[in-house]
Formats: sequence, structure tokens, C-alpha cells
Amino acid sequence: MGIVFYEKEGVFRLDTKNTTYALGLIDNEKFASHLYYGKKLGQNDSDLQYLARINEFPFVPSVNARDRLSFLDSYPSEYAGHGTGDFRDSAVQIKTRGGHSAVSFTYKTHRIYDGKDPLNSLPSTFAGAGAVQTLELVCEDASAGLEAVLSYSVFDDCDAVIRSVKLKNVSKEKIQIVKCMSLCLDMDNDDYEMISLHGSWARERHIQRRKIGFGSSSVSSLRGESGHQDHPFIALVNTDTTQTRGNVYGFSFVYSGNFYAGVSVNQFNSARILMGINPSDFCWNLQAGEVFTSPEAVLVYSNEGIGGMSRTFHDVFRNHLIRGQYKDKKRPILINNWEATYFDFDTDKLLSIAKDAAKTGIEMLVMDDGWFGNRSSDNMALGDWVVNDQKLKGGLPYLVNEVNKLGVKFGIWFEPEMISPDSDLYRAHPDWAIAIPSRTPGLARNQYVLDYSRRDVVEHVYESLKKILTSANIEYVKWDMNRPLSDIGSAFLDSESQGELYHRYVLGVYAMQERLITDFPHILLENCSGGGARFDPGMLYYSPQIWCSDDTDAVERLMIQEGTAMVYPLSAMGAHVSVCPNHTVGRVTPFETRGYVALAGTFGYELDITKLSEEDKDSIKHQVELYHRYNDLVRTGTYYRLASYGDNHEFDAWQVSSKDGTKALVTYVQVLSRPNQKSRIIKVQGLKENVSYRVTLEGSNSADDMKLYSLRLFSGSMLMNGGLVIRNPWGDFQSKLIYIEAVE
Ligand code: DGJ
Repeated sequence: MGIVFYEKEGVFRLDTKNTTYALGLIDNEKFASHLYYGKKLGQNDSDLQYLARINEFPFVPSVNARDRLSFLDSYPSEYAGHGTGDFRDSAVQIKTRGGHSAVSFTYKTHRIYDGKDPLNSLPSTFAGAGAVQTLELVCEDASAGLEAVLSYSVFDDCDAVIRSVKLKNVSKEKIQIVKCMSLCLDMDNDDYEMISLHGSWARERHIQRRKIGFGSSSVSSLRGESGHQDHPFIALVNTDTTQTRGNVYGFSFVYSGNFYAGVSVNQFNSARILMGINPSDFCWNLQAGEVFTSPEAVLVYSNEGIGGMSRTFHDVFRNHLIRGQYKDKKRPILINNWEATYFDFDTDKLLSIAKDAAKTGIEMLVMDDGWFGNRSSDNMALGDWVVNDQKLKGGLPYLVNEVNKLGVKFGIWFEPEMISPDSDLYRAHPDWAIAIPSRTPGLARNQYVLDYSRRDVVEHVYESLKKILTSANIEYVKWDMNRPLSDIGSAFLDSESQGELYHRYVLGVYAMQERLITDFPHILLENCSGGGARFDPGMLYYSPQIWCSDDTDAVERLMIQEGTAMVYPLSAMGAHVSVCPNHTVGRVTPFETRGYVALAGTFGYELDITKLSEEDKDSIKHQVELYHRYNDLVRTGTYYRLASYGDNHEFDAWQVSSKDGTKALVTYVQVLSRPNQKSRIIKVQGLKENVSYRVTLEGSNSADDMKLYSLRLFSGSMLMNGGLVIRNPWGDFQSKLIYIEAVE
């Protein structure tokens, strides 16, 4: 790995273990041009300028200034300007004092250094000394008085390039930034298809793959959060790319607010990928001398198919983004009372849940929504973060002590960004809600959003939370956010600055979460947003796990978790077992299958354990054992997607294996049972060819398979090429957990 500048050739080359990213300085004017991104080039390959093919055109300004526009509109730009001749979607756009919008950067100087500076007030990837290198390419637009510092970092242990941009006002007057993408990448279109993750409430991150054509294909959010609907991730793949084979370029945005991610193909069939803060409703005032910092984009190239890309993203996020005491630790198995009681609970009810939970080995009780103010439904009290002592008789310390006495930890739910119109907080501070004067803001779930661009608001909420968190032994916080932002207006910002509100809001949330985890480092923070509407890399910087979805149905979860795991490590996916019929879709699935599906995430329960049969309680005990047996593997292992129910509509399978290939855990779910069907062959991945493995099976449907496996050992080669034979279980929604271990 490393970054080298070949001065004679005017080429910057950034290498990771298996990939190369290269850019060059073109022409006397030193346009920063993209040259190459893909499989690692030969060690001595430095003369890469020819890849830009600018000499094919008579356009090069130093040769033919007459056709400068043609040059700008066709050369592969590292950071495309606006309004000076590149008519493609731009990476940046401004508004000067004179009202002009044009901007175009050329190279000024650069710096290559060991390490990577954190981004100002934003989440950013990191690595220890000697494990990451950074190139800062300083570009300028002398006419506009603006500098752009394009930053590129590469780690020594994973195939990712991290990009971000800083815009500095070097003029004497204010400049407004109306568009600032974090990533701009021009490549030849290779008949690409685009993968994105789409969804809805209770149906997050389903995989979509579509052909791209001339014009734009994009996903975005204008909801003030990343959202249930689109996701800040896209990948470009060739038509024949599969899970295990082919080229993949993946792009992920480390941000939790409005975003844009898209690719547009131009007249020369070149594709421009852009990713950044959504320029719609964005306008940042940059005073003389000030700097605007964009969030980061993570770029991953793999020639080992979609699976190769996923594994790299998992490593980047696990090793270089997630922080805190729980980063590499097993998380407590929790039971959350939301689906058990909704708003209808009191101390006795919670204690009865905790008592039964303790008997099964569950390690933490999480008290969800409804414990504060006069919150008896979702119509009121958000913002009134004082314990409701009608419900919690004896107060919070009493409840937490009693729970702790059972050997169970205690966690609590907050929704710190919200305010109910029917709350003491709103009655005292109506101007603290985001709203436009003289326009009644729209309600969602009967609540408004607090103006997190205001220090006084954040300070007040933080102090209220702190009071609760220091009043008892609280070891976990679920931070929820149950509506998007609308009616964007802040009573605190002047008219010129209203366009900053969306971004300032996100910065306010980040600042508050940073403070929370700094002041309470022992607390495990889990982010959540009406399920999984803010499951994004930005949030992972503050919380090592995020609630995946309000949909806990085992079948729907297959698709949600497949889409999520395409980008995010299993250690981050909040997944729980709930009761049947499922509260969202009404489906009835075996307890065992619900357990196996939830074991692919952080694992816990979301049900009234006091109402379960003894048989189900015994199942919990067994699942708790499984969690302790396999969670190290799930949390730290290498993930392989073996089959997709989303594609085949019948069955699903995935695998995690240890990095050294000596252990693997395969989960198989037969969603739909079919008559007269041969046993399935599932080809395992990531084992060692010449090592012998023993295969054991968990699960009520495994007796016949056990006979199949128990009498023999298998070589890694056999399991990966011949495959595992899986007999079809009897009935829909049945599943198997298959453990594979090397024999000495
Ligand atoms: C939405 C979350 O996703 C649920 O788990 C639950 O906490 C509710 N909000 C509570 O209002």
C-alpha cells in the first residue's frame, strides 16, 4: 500500500493491497484528471497519462485554446467544475457576491503524509500510525477565490480509498457553496448496472439492480436523514458480475442526512459517479478565510464479485470507523419491551419480564418508549425527559437496582431529536421546533423535530438525558428518531443561513452523540430511526450497532439483512426474535428460524417472555447458548452470501467463517417448501482446500442430515466445490444452522 507521486509523469498513484487508484495532472494548466481505478497495476507502472486519452482530441487548451469547452466537457475530471464548459453534472457549484455560479479547479500543490486527519465535526475513518496514508491535492480557482483540497486516504489492510473535500474561501468576500460533492469519479462506461438499496418502513434496504443508460441514474434523500427509502450506497457492476465473480465498484457515504448518489453517462459513453450532500435545499455561507468540509465517501473496488466488495466494506467499518468499548466485544443479549407492552407497562411488568429473562440467560432489559412525562401513546410528551412515576413507582433507581439484582443489565430508550406539540417543552419553547414562520409545520407521528442547529436546544436535551443517565446504573441507550424533517426553518438562523439548516442539524446530532459517548463511554449506544431509516456509516461512528428494522418477521428480515449485509458488518445489525403472528406482517414462523435469523445480528428478544410457553422459553435458553457459542464468529468473521431468497424466492443461505478459514457457520432457511425436490447443494466458501473439516448441524430438522455428515470428514475443497448437501426440511420457513470446523 502507499501513495507515490511520479513527478516526471505527473501521476499520483495510490495503492491498496489489491487495487490501484491513479490521477494525473494534465496540460500546462494542470487539470487534475482521473486516470485509473481497478485491479492493482504492475509495480513499475507509472506512465499512466495515456489513459486519459486527451491527445485524441484537438481540444487540449494549451494546444488549442479555441476549443477549451470541448476539453472540459470530455476529460475525466477528478473534481468537475461548473459553468465553464463541462456540461456534465458538476461536483461543485457556488454563488459569488456578484451572483455568479461558475467554478473550475486546477492543481496548485499537494501533500502526501502518513496518517489521516479526522474531519472537523464529522464522522471519519481512522487508523493507527503507519496504517494509513493520505494525499491532499490542493486545487484552486483563482478567479472565484476558492481553494479545494481533495483528500484521498488508503489503509494498509483493506482495499478502500477514502475521499473527502475541503473548500476554502481565499477571497475577501463571502462565497455561497450550493453544491459540494465528496466524490467525483469519471470512468468509461463498461455496460454497467447499478446496485442500490431501496425500501420503506419495515422493508428497508432491499437490493435493486438495474441497467444504467445515457443520462442519470441516482438515489437520494431529502428527508434530513438517510431514510428508509433510498440508501447512501451505490455499486456499479458488469452484467456478468455475481456474488463470487466479476468487477464491482462500491461507493458508500459516511453521512446521516440528505444525500445524493448517482451515475450519469454522457455523449462519449463515460460515466460520472457523484456522491455527496444533496445539493437540493443546501446553501452554505463561506466567509473569507472559512473552510467547508464535506463528509467522506468510501470507494471499494473488487474483482471478486459483490461478495468481495461486501467483505471489504465490513472490514473498513469494523476496523476503521466503529469505535468505543464495544467495538470488538460481544454485546449483551437484550430483551426489549416494545413489542411486549408498547406503552402499557409499569415497574411490576418490567420486573416480571426481567425475572423470566434472567432465567433464560438474557443479559439486559431495555425499557423502550413510554417511561417519561405523560407519555401514554405516541401523541405526546416527547421532550419531557422526566420519569413518569405513575408508571415507574419507586422511580428509575429502584427499577434498575431490582433488575440488576437479577443479574440483568438495564438499558433505556430516548428520542432526543423530537418534541411533541403536547409537551411541557413545546409549551415553554415553541420556537425550538423546526418550522417556517406563518406556516404550520406538518406533523408526523404527531411530533415535530427539534432545531438541532441551536446550541441552547442541544444543551437542554443533553442535560435532561444526562440527569437520567446519571440517576441509575444505565448501560445501554437506544437513540430513536421517528420522523423525517420537513418545513425547514430555524428561528435561530438568519434568512441567508436557512439553507444551512439541514446540514447544521446533522452536525448537531453528531456533536450530541459524540458528547454522549465521551461522557458515558461504558454505555452501549444503539441508533434507530423508526426501525432502520438511519442505518448508515455516519451513525456507525457513534454507535457500534443500529436497529435494522421494525420488521422482526424472520422472512422479511432475510431480505432486509441481506441488503444490509451487502455493505455493513453483521456486528452492526440490530436483530431480535419476536412473537408470532408477527406484529408487522402477521406471519407465523418457527421459533427456531426466528432465532437463527436474529443470530446473524446483534441478537436479542422483542417479546413478552412472561407469556411464552415453557417450550419457547427452553428454545430461548438454547438460542442463548448458540449465541455464546457462535457470536465471536458472526461478529468478527468473514461474510459470504451463498443464496438469496430475494432472487430465487425459495431459500436463503449465508455463511461467516473465521479469517483463518478453520471455522465456518452456515445458516440455511427454506422459505418455501416445494414437492418432489432434490436436496440442495450449497457451496461453502472461504475454507482451506486441503484441510479436513467436521460438519455438525443444529436444529430440529437436522436428524437426517446428521446421518449424512456425522460418519465422515470433508476436505475444504469438497465443501467448496462439491458443496454441502442439504435435505429439504418438511414445511415452509424451516432452517438449519451448520457448523464446520477443521480437524487437527
Ligand atoms: C420505533 C423503533 O424502531 C421501535 O423499536 C420503538 O422503539 C418505537 N419507535 C418506539 O416509539
